[in-house]
Amino acid sequence: MKVKEFDALIVGGGLSGLAAGLELSREWNVALLSKVNPVRSHSGAAQGGINAALGNHPDGREDTPERHAFDTVKGSDYLADQDVVMFMCKEAPKIVIEFESMGAPFSRFEDGKIAQRPFGGAGFPRTCYAADRTGHALLHTLYEQCIRQGVIFYDEFFLIDLITIENRVVGLIALDIASGNLEILRAPYVILATGGFGRIYRASTNALICTGDGVGASFRAGVPMQDCEFVQFHPTCLYGSDILMSEGARGEGGLLFNNKNERFMLKIAPEAKELAPRDIVARAITTEINEGRGFEDAFIHLDLTHLGAKRIKERLPGIRDIAIDFAGVDSIEKPIPVHAGHHYSMGGIGTKYEGDFCETSLNGLWAVGENACVSVHGANRLGGNSLLETSVFGRYIDENF
Ligand code: FUM
Repeated sequence: MKVKEFDALIVGGGLSGLAAGLELSREWNVALLSKVNPVRSHSGAAQGGINAALGNHPDGREDTPERHAFDTVKGSDYLADQDVVMFMCKEAPKIVIEFESMGAPFSRFEDGKIAQRPFGGAGFPRTCYAADRTGHALLHTLYEQCIRQGVIFYDEFFLIDLITIENRVVGLIALDIASGNLEILRAPYVILATGGFGRIYRASTNALICTGDGVGASFRAGVPMQDCEFVQFHPTCLYGSDILMSEGARGEGGLLFNNKNERFMLKIAPEAKELAPRDIVARAITTEINEGRGFEDAFIHLDLTHLGAKRIKERLPGIRDIAIDFAGVDSIEKPIPVHAGHHYSMGGIGTKYEGDFCETSLNGLWAVGENACVSVHGANRLGGNSLLETSVFGRYIDENF
């Protein structure tokens, strides 16, 4: 067996893996393994947007990284690591502008600035978006840059296990899915960016590929896990298929109704209403269904009909297509049937070992994105902070080797 040697190996072709690949490949010989073609990674399913305190909204309200950080810490039930949160929120405007300069097709306000919509737990239009296909747009943008810069891709390579000597990672074993061969790849640094493990749940917005491969491999290598009990349920999954119906739909003004035609969020969260943090809205929806106020004892209605065809087609085209294809419902004419479902794992591979945000306790092993627990979301992540986390910490890694 011929062993392939690199300066660093990245496992995972989603946003955090690509961001790490782009940074590290500026000076190093870097290979990126992905069990699917990178642009089919689950980051592409992130719909609603990426948070950054740009303060672009035409109503002129000022926003700051400190406010973004406060909302993130409050939304986390005060369990996030506040230093990490502050770092991420300060980086956010730079990251979004960097994406813009790489050509990411953000939606725009009339004055040409990057458009921002309100998301849950912010009470402020802070979420930058590309219609309701933001993850897809950012994934393609970073992938193009990685290709341009010569990152070496091993597509459809599946991580079998890490190779360790004493307390140091020295490489990994991967299955080349096309040939069925096992391959050994060696490097002094391995960065795990393998995404979440949502498929342990029956109802999840996660793609079938979200099986926690990096989390499992590092656990087997003796790396401690952190906060695995903190699991997020998204309020609005499409009934029947559990596909995400973006929080952006409520950010644009979508309303939730039970079978008595009551807007129950008025009673549960009179201020924030449908844009309360996700855990609150998800619990409210599940309570309505459990107490007999759901439709068919299974779902409630996400109503967008009052937004009008023009706005739905412009801002929420993706979820309209999905609801037509998978539930036979055109959101311009009828409410969408939704219920809560697993969406995100705040916990994962324990990092922040000896002060570096993404470093694990195994020498040479780093973790970024959803498979890591950098503790930036505490017990509950705010919508729009996931795309941000992947890009910020994927990029950060380079500065700290
Ligand atoms: O609802 C959404 O568009 C999801 C966004 C997120 O999880 O950050």
